[in-house]
Amino acid sequence: MQTVRREGMARAWAGWRLSAMLLAGVLALGGAALTSVAAPRAEAPDAALPPPDAAALDALRARYRRPDAIPFPRDNAYSDAKYRLGQVLFFDPRLSGSNTMSCASCHNPALGWEDGLRTARGEQANTLRRSTPTILNIAWAEPLMWDGRKESLEDQALGPVADAGEMNQPVDELVAELSRIPGYRRLFRDAHGADAVTPRGIALALATFQRTIVSNLSPFDRWVAGDASAMGADAVRGFVLFNTRANCAACHAGWRLTDDSFHDIGLASGDIGRGAHMPEVPLMRHAFKTPTLRNIALRGPYMHDGSAMTLREAVLHYDTGFVDRPSLSPEMRRLNLSPRDADDIVAFLRALTSGDDPVPAPALPTEEE
Ligand code: HEC
Ligand code: HEC
Repeated sequence: MQTVRREGMARAWAGWRLSAMLLAGVLALGGAALTSVAAPRAEAPDAALPPPDAAALDALRARYRRPDAIPFPRDNAYSDAKYRLGQVLFFDPRLSGSNTMSCASCHNPALGWEDGLRTARGEQANTLRRSTPTILNIAWAEPLMWDGRKESLEDQALGPVADAGEMNQPVDELVAELSRIPGYRRLFRDAHGADAVTPRGIALALATFQRTIVSNLSPFDRWVAGDASAMGADAVRGFVLFNTRANCAACHAGWRLTDDSFHDIGLASGDIGRGAHMPEVPLMRHAFKTPTLRNIALRGPYMHDGSAMTLREAVLHYDTGFVDRPSLSPEMRRLNLSPRDADDIVAFLRALTSGDDPVPAPALPTEEE
């Protein structure tokens, strides 16, 4: 499993370096790429884009270049042993009270590290009030949670274990349970230098594993790197709209397509999100963290309340679907999108899907040994 991961990562890094090299080349090709944007515009009655010149398009692309290394904090540096322990813990249903639910039950790698539900379902088959966010590219994503209430992955990791609505397992009982399993004692010794299973040891390892979950290259990344054929003309036009008239990039900025900030986008939900933690800031009422849009096509339903079933519905929310109220973000406005505009933005969103390697569940340590 470790080898698989290493190869996968090496491929991703190699791809990124290649991207950087190709990017230099694309500056020269900007004119050619531009033709494919400009051509459909000429016949389109609804195309009200500013004339994208080559330099402007290149400047836009440059904002979406990927970083070339995962950031690990100094007080929880990467090690293979920590990764191995964290991976096993993430997939182990023994982390829940009834031994039926793992982190991966909700953050399922086959569903873009989400669960495909409107809102999450806990260990008791209870419905939670918010949807499961992805943990893809989470190494860059702090603060965490829809309402930003957790500072770091280390700080977050034991929350869902102990939460009665989620995994419903008191942490001291989990520590006792794992301590009885010889395979876990060995994994803890390798990762942390002592056999003892500790809450902190669990949190550090889960955080390390999660930081390695990085999306691979998508058609959009190839296009950013200079492969003009990687995205269709519709997606390129959608990208330009995303950055201009549709104003999406005001919040969905940078390579992960998020500003990691909090906004009220006018969803009808009664949940006040960040407002519960920052009651003194009127704009934080109903504000939620801007989600990454990486692999978004794999991650419906959308929004913290699962209120948008499709990408098209999510896009149309920004045009006409939002509730106006005092906390509404000043970046929200009627967009007057034509049906073609909406289609093109959806085409762009689909081009953010990377062909990530399947993530097999690891073998779990057994009780006898
Ligand atoms: C019952 C489903 C469920 C389980 C099990 C679960 N999570 Fe989550 N996870 C959620 C939901 C729902 C949220 C968002 C909650 C909120 O913001 O209020 C979340 C949020 C997160 C976040 C923050 C993501 C972000 O973008 O800010 C991380 C990281 C995370 N979970 C990791 C884990 C880990 C590690 C485990 C196992 C120890 C786990 N989760 C178990 C449903 C689940
Ligand atoms: C004012 C900031 C802002 C602007 C502008 C904005 N978004 Fe968002 N976006 C958010 C926030 C915040 C959320 C999460 C809202 C929630 O669930 O409460 C979100 C959620 C989404 C989602 C669902 C993500 C998921 O994981 O469920 C999609 C898709 C999306 N936005 C696309 C767009 C597109 C396309 C545009 C432009 C038409 C756009 N956004 C404009 C802030 C913004």
